Amino acid sequence: MKSIDLRSDTVTLPTPKMREAIYEAEVGDDVFSDDPTVNRFEQMAAERVGKEATLFVASGTMGNLVCTLTHCARGEEVILGDKSHMFLNEAGGMSALGGIHPHIVANQSDGTMRLEDIEGAVRGSNLHFPRTRLICLENTHNRCNGAALPSEYMDSVAALAKRYGLSLHLDGARVFNAAVALGVDVKELTRSADSVSFCLSKGLSAPVGSAVCGSGEFIAEARRNRKVLGGGMRQAGILAAAGIVALEEMVERLAEDHANARRLAEGIAQIEGLSIDAAAVQTNILYFDLVSDRLDVDTFVTRLDKKGIRLLHTGGPRRCRIVTHYGIEAKDVDVTLAALREVMEEF
Ligand SMILES: Cc1ncc(COP(=O)(O)O)c(C=O)c1O
Repeated sequence: MKSIDLRSDTVTLPTPKMREAIYEAEVGDDVFSDDPTVNRFEQMAAERVGKEATLFVASGTMGNLVCTLTHCARGEEVILGDKSHMFLNEAGGMSALGGIHPHIVANQSDGTMRLEDIEGAVRGSNLHFPRTRLICLENTHNRCNGAALPSEYMDSVAALAKRYGLSLHLDGARVFNAAVALGVDVKELTRSADSVSFCLSKGLSAPVGSAVCGSGEFIAEARRNRKVLGGGMRQAGILAAAGIVALEEMVERLAEDHANARRLAEGIAQIEGLSIDAAAVQTNILYFDLVSDRLDVDTFVTRLDKKGIRLLHTGGPRRCRIVTHYGIEAKDVDVTLAALREVMEEF
């Protein structure tokens, strides 16, 4: 039985073209800036998001942490969403390793934070307060149904940041999903951020790696912080080679993942005992609730697993997440919906 793995887009496997590129990659010692494939990837990524420079890092978590450490000193404060990945799912790295203080603001269901809430969180000059240094946004917003935040919103937060002399970081792990969903060039979503991190190892299907992008000066300092974290890799062109293929070939096809997610959401909305806001599904992530109390969520997930459908119980006591990605095809949507129906009918 083929397993349909909808737990995350991080389960994607490298494409045949990526495996070829990995095999053929010309490599060198990247800590000496000698790896031609990493250098090519970094230049390509910087151009793609409209920044001066890029740093190749091991993961999205490392990318966000490197950026936070580069923007902030110990005791300084970061404003970020209460449902953001950086706050919820990155093991408190900014506090643990950087002595940086998170100040959370409510995320709305569309992944935004209200401008007045952000402004209210900016500290005044007072001996008792940490100094506010940075605002972080997430686009798409994982926990908020994979919402795509429009460029107008990003620009308005950047204007607020500028007014208070703060920097803006974008956790753009899935910023290409946002660009495809909104039908805009990704630069429109990155232009107002001082730093951007995006992942190669999610919907873009590369095996490992993320990019951190910003000004030349910022990236020089970020390179130092990557070294502090033990993230200076040597013949990393083996990995960056797949990243080049990811940027060249895997962006436009994200629209297929979005269409599959939408069809899944519409199907789930028809199943008795499940509840979903299907209209909120814009990209490749969807959440739904098991409202029927005839079965508990863990039994529900196990039953599906036995039918070859894997999804995650996450985001709430009776909430599950589905993520579509490269390798999940339209026919898998039909099989998944049939399995969901069967499980619900069995109880
Ligand atoms: C929005 C967001 N940011 C950052 C990350 C971290 O990426 P990584 O798993 O590569 O550390 C994730 C991972 O799922 C994510 O969803």
